Amino acid sequence: MKGESQVVVRPARNVRGVVELPGDKSISHRYAMLAGIAEGASRLENYSTGADCASTLGCMRALGVAWKRKDDGAIELEGRGFSLDAPGGPLDCGNSGSTMRMLSGIVAGQKFTSEMIGDESLSRRPMERVIKPLSEMGAKISSRQGKPPLRITGGSLRAIDYKMPVASAQVKSCLLFAGLFAEGETHVEEPLRTRDHTEVALRAFGVQLQRKSSGSGDEVRIRGGQRLRGVEARIPGDLSSAAFFLCAAALFPGSQLIIPNLLMNPTRARLLDVLMQMGLGIAVTKLDEIHGELVGSLQVEGARLKGATIAGGDSPALIDEIPVLSAIAPYTEQGIEVRDARELRVKESDRIAAVATNLRLMGAQVEEHDDGLKIPGGQTLHGAELESFGDHRIAMAFAVAALRAQGDTLIRGAESADISYPAFFQTLEGLTER
Ligand code: S3P
Repeated sequence: MKGESQVVVRPARNVRGVVELPGDKSISHRYAMLAGIAEGASRLENYSTGADCASTLGCMRALGVAWKRKDDGAIELEGRGFSLDAPGGPLDCGNSGSTMRMLSGIVAGQKFTSEMIGDESLSRRPMERVIKPLSEMGAKISSRQGKPPLRITGGSLRAIDYKMPVASAQVKSCLLFAGLFAEGETHVEEPLRTRDHTEVALRAFGVQLQRKSSGSGDEVRIRGGQRLRGVEARIPGDLSSAAFFLCAAALFPGSQLIIPNLLMNPTRARLLDVLMQMGLGIAVTKLDEIHGELVGSLQVEGARLKGATIAGGDSPALIDEIPVLSAIAPYTEQGIEVRDARELRVKESDRIAAVATNLRLMGAQVEEHDDGLKIPGGQTLHGAELESFGDHRIAMAFAVAALRAQGDTLIRGAESADISYPAFFQTLEGLTER
């Protein structure tokens, strides 16, 4: 990552234009990992440009998976089948919780020891949630009191029946990946529905699994020993990155955006419903399916925004979009209340505290709760000097909030946007009318 940088965001009158998003981060991670353990070659177009997905590719290379970036930007990987190479040094997951948690399910199936490390932020994040079930499956794992670095000695795994205590797609994915290497049928049950890209991707790579909705969450069964075959795929545009532009458009009744080729998977698209209920005009002009993932083109028209309450199953469904929704909340008519989102405290930063701190620096009134925030609407904010807290989504969320503030806003640590979307500030600037 580059050194610390700061960005100044000036107030805007409108956002207008066409924005094509780099490939979805969640899907990019999964495809890179599955392509590595597949048989045959894979070609991934529109792979995420973020540093997190580069961390996954770096780890795959360290595990013996050859890949190259072609002139057209596509990633071509040579699958190794189930047997990877012992890495010559630690697997560096950088800032990426997805890399560490999901890949731990794959290295737990290998007959060698891997050490997984991360940056300062990742080193503070909870890993007990994968350590416990993977240990039950037979992996030997040591950690720094449930936090990285992780030392995983894999080998012969047994299937488990696991009811996840936290709603986490990363944990679900880790266990489904480990289930591929296990003897027997692994059964994973989630308390609330989370993104299902792993289930969809596994099928795209030729794996059979059974899914059943169990009320508020899903149950998934996967039989070990199934072989994967490489794929050629184009990764749909990242909906969580599009969220920043959708929310920017939502700030100004005159905004008009076109977003082609956007991921519309129903387990990710709750943001579109919420913004539409709040008043944003969104029309889906083209709908398609690529390897089981829904992709659409959006036409977006700004409007006056009402308020919203995000709680229960909506909180995990919107977990990555809550920072930007909260950042625009003061400008809505009735405000936004977020509850049941305690997980936000253990993301790349404590996102509840980070949002509250920055909104207050901009002069907003905010109530902070252990599991959320209550932000009244109808407020006028002023520009301020803000921190990204080293968190990509906080840097980008407050660039959006700054567009409707009075006066300029300075965002320190703006380079953290590179984690998911290196071209973010440039793209936002290109869409902004003043
Ligand atoms: C992700 C799952 C979510 C999300 C993260 C990506 C994924 O994390 O916040 O950005 O790709 O599975 P949790 O599994 O911790 O909820």
